[in-house]
Amino acid sequence: MERTCLAVILAAGDSTRMKSSKSKVLHAVANRPMIAHVVDAVAKTAISSVALVVGRDAEAVAKAATIGGVEIETFLQKERLGTGHAVLAARDAIARGYDDIIVTYGDVPLQTEGPLKAARQGLAEGSDIVVIGFHTDKPTGYGRLLVKDGELIAIREEKDATDAERAVTWCNSGLMAINGRKALDLLSRIGNSNAKGEYYLTDLVEIARSLGGRVTAVDAPEIEMTGCNNRAELAYVERLWQERRRHELMISGVSMIAPETVFLSHDTVIGQDALIEPNVVFGPGAVIDSGAIIHAFSHIEGAHVAAGATVGPFARLRPGADLAEGSKVGNFCEVKNGKIGEGAKVNHLTYIGDTTVGAGTNIGAGTITCNYDGVNKHQTVIGENTFIGSNSSLVAPVSIGDNAYVASGSVITADVPADALAFGRARQELKPGRATVLRERALAIKAAKKAKG
Ligand code: UD1
Ligand code: CA
Repeated sequence: MERTCLAVILAAGDSTRMKSSKSKVLHAVANRPMIAHVVDAVAKTAISSVALVVGRDAEAVAKAATIGGVEIETFLQKERLGTGHAVLAARDAIARGYDDIIVTYGDVPLQTEGPLKAARQGLAEGSDIVVIGFHTDKPTGYGRLLVKDGELIAIREEKDATDAERAVTWCNSGLMAINGRKALDLLSRIGNSNAKGEYYLTDLVEIARSLGGRVTAVDAPEIEMTGCNNRAELAYVERLWQERRRHELMISGVSMIAPETVFLSHDTVIGQDALIEPNVVFGPGAVIDSGAIIHAFSHIEGAHVAAGATVGPFARLRPGADLAEGSKVGNFCEVKNGKIGEGAKVNHLTYIGDTTVGAGTNIGAGTITCNYDGVNKHQTVIGENTFIGSNSSLVAPVSIGDNAYVASGSVITADVPADALAFGRARQELKPGRATVLRERALAIKAAKKAKG
C-alpha cells in the first residue's frame, strides 16, 4: 500500500531580514516567486495533500503558490512564534491522519523532490523524524546538526550555539519528515525557552529521542538546500539556480559561448543545437527551437523563435513575437505581438507591433509599424514577398498585399493591394547649380561676421 503524505510548506515568516514591503517568499528566483518553486518540488514528491502556512501577505502568498494542478489548503498562522508553532497552524490537516508529514520552507527555492523522497523513505524504514541536512563551508545562519556516537542528537540554532557548535559544518536545511501518526503529539511538546523565545521545529529531534523514537538524517546537495533570508542571499540563490539550469541546457545540447552571462527564466525552453551568444536575457515564456541563433545582447520574453531563425545582436522580442523558420530579426529591432513569416527579414532598427509579416518579405531599415493612436492598438498585415523600403511608417490599421513594394521613406496610411507600388512621400525637386549659390552665400555671411570681430 502507498503511504499517504501531507506536505506542510511554511511561508508565514515576517521576512524581517529581507527588508521588504512584501513577504520574502514572493521575491522571485528566475522570474518566479520562491514559493512557486517550492510547491513545484513538493508536488513531485507523490504527496496526498499540501498545506500552506501563511501569515504576512497571506493572500498574495497563497496566490503565488497556486500553480497548475496542485491543490493547496492554506492555514493562517496569526502570530509568528516560530517554525514549530507554524507547523501546528496546519493542525486540522495533520489531525486527518497521514502516514508521512513532510515539512518544507518557502524560502528554500532550489529544493527538488529528491531529498524529500529520501526523507520519506527514512520514515518508511521506521524513523519518527528524518532531518534533511547538508554540508557547507558557509554554515552561518543555519541550525547545526549535532552528532554523538554516530547519532543525530540535536539541532542547535546559531543564536543558541556555543563556539564549538558553531564550528560544525553539517547544517539543517529546515526540511524534515515526521511520522504522521505521532506528529501532533511531538509538535505539541515543543517549548520556547531559547535565545529567540520561539517555538523551534528543530526541537523535535531531542523530543522524539527523549520518547525513545528513532531520529535519522539524510543528506541533500548544498545547492538545493540554500536558504534565502536577505537580498544578498537572494542574489546568491539566483546565481545557483542560473548555473544549474544553464548546465542542464548545455548538457541537453544547447550551445552557450559565455554561459555565465546568459539569464534564463524558470520556464525558458531551448532546443538542441540552438546557439545562445553572450549577454542574452530570457524573460518568462521564451521558447527557442532547435538550431536557432540568438546573437549577443538580445532580450526575449513571451516569444517563440522557430528552428533556424536568427535574432539580434541587440534585438528585443516582446510577448507575442513569433518568428517562423529561417526568419531574421536583426540589430536594434523590437517585435511585439508580431508574426514574422518563414524566411522574412527584419534586419535593422525596426519596430514591428501588432503585425503579421508574410513569408519572404523584406522589411527595410528603420521601418516602423505605427500601431498605437494614443488610445487603441491597431493591426498591420503585410503579405508575402513584399518589399518595405527603409524608413517607412505603416500607419495601422493598414495592409500591404503580397508582392507589393513600398518606396523608402513612405508614410503608408491606406491599404496597398497585391503587386502594387506605393509612394507616400513628397516628390523630389532638383535645382541645378543652386548648391553653389547657397554655399557662397553662407561663406559671405561668415566672412562678414569675422570682419566685424
Ligand atoms: C530555519 C531553521 C534552521 C535552518 C534554516 C534553513 C528553525 C528554528 N530554524 O532557520 O535550523 O538551518 O531554517 O534555512 O526552524 N516561518 C513561519 N512562521 C514562523 C517562523 C517562520 O511560517 O513563525 C517560515 C518562514 O516563512 C520561512 C521558514 O518558516 O519560510 C523558516 O523560517 P526562518 O525564520 O527563515 O528560519 P531560519 O532562521 O532561516
Ligand atoms: Ca530561512
